[in-house]
Amino acid sequence: MMIFIDSAEIEEIKQACEWGIIDGATTNPSLIKKAVDRRNGKITMEDYIKEILKMVPGPVSLEVIALKAEEMVNQARLLYRKFSPYGEVVIKIPVNPSLGNDGLDFDGLKAIRALSREGIPVNCTLVMSPEQAILAAKAGATYVSPFAGRVDDYIRAKMGMRIGIDFKKGDYFDHNLLSKVREAKVDEILTRYGSAAEVYKSQDIGAIINATQDNGILSGVDLVAKIVRIYRNYGYKTKVIASSIRNARQVREVAEVGADIATLPFEVILEMVRHYKTMEGMRDFMADVVPQYEEIFRRE
Ligand code: E4P
Repeated sequence: MMIFIDSAEIEEIKQACEWGIIDGATTNPSLIKKAVDRRNGKITMEDYIKEILKMVPGPVSLEVIALKAEEMVNQARLLYRKFSPYGEVVIKIPVNPSLGNDGLDFDGLKAIRALSREGIPVNCTLVMSPEQAILAAKAGATYVSPFAGRVDDYIRAKMGMRIGIDFKKGDYFDHNLLSKVREAKVDEILTRYGSAAEVYKSQDIGAIINATQDNGILSGVDLVAKIVRIYRNYGYKTKVIASSIRNARQVREVAEVGADIATLPFEVILEMVRHYKTMEGMRDFMADVVPQYEEIFRRE
């Protein structure tokens, strides 16, 4: 699995690239805003983006900010022309740019189709369902970005859990625990309702099942897994970038289900390298170094 850094913060990108584990980068308007705010607006955006591109040894996704297909295509061409001399530019296009009842639902796909015909690589972003991912692949997207963390947030919110109160942004969402609870309760529920049909028809049970998933998607990782499976079924060439990753365990799980790429915030990369027992082992080894062994290094 390739690792991209999900950041527009030049210091983070620089450090992570120096660690030798970065294959690309993804940005979005919110990440750019964070970088601009941190510098109190004092930033020359074009030069800043060029710096990022020069640093990253692979594709860097830059997002358009228009909503209509034609305008997105023009913005994509401009970004691609302006920044391609400095690195490998990929254009991020939202799968559906509609802000609600504006008739723009298919403008993202139209833009993807037009750009892919011109040979401009597209990362189709804000993908929250396998259905959207199928359309993105059909339109010719080079990459598709399912937002695993946001899907976990959505399911937890449906369950009545509040971000910042019941869970923190980086908390792992244990969907397997929910499945185990469901399985364990099956006998009890069947006895209470008498038959599977009664369970199925029960509004209470339906509400619980519905609240613990999103239209059959059990978690963000499950979303990634389903997209990977569908693409493999049909040989779609579009690469899956597991996005909106919030913790190290999610990285492991998207790797297990075969994501081509995971794009990771800086903090998640740090979390991946740390383990209590590794640090404890280091302390033990350092405490056990004998002078006879140290001597080898002194002689050089
Ligand atoms: C992906 O390309 C996006 O930049 C990103 O992963 C969004 O993550 P968030 O949901 O944590 O904002």
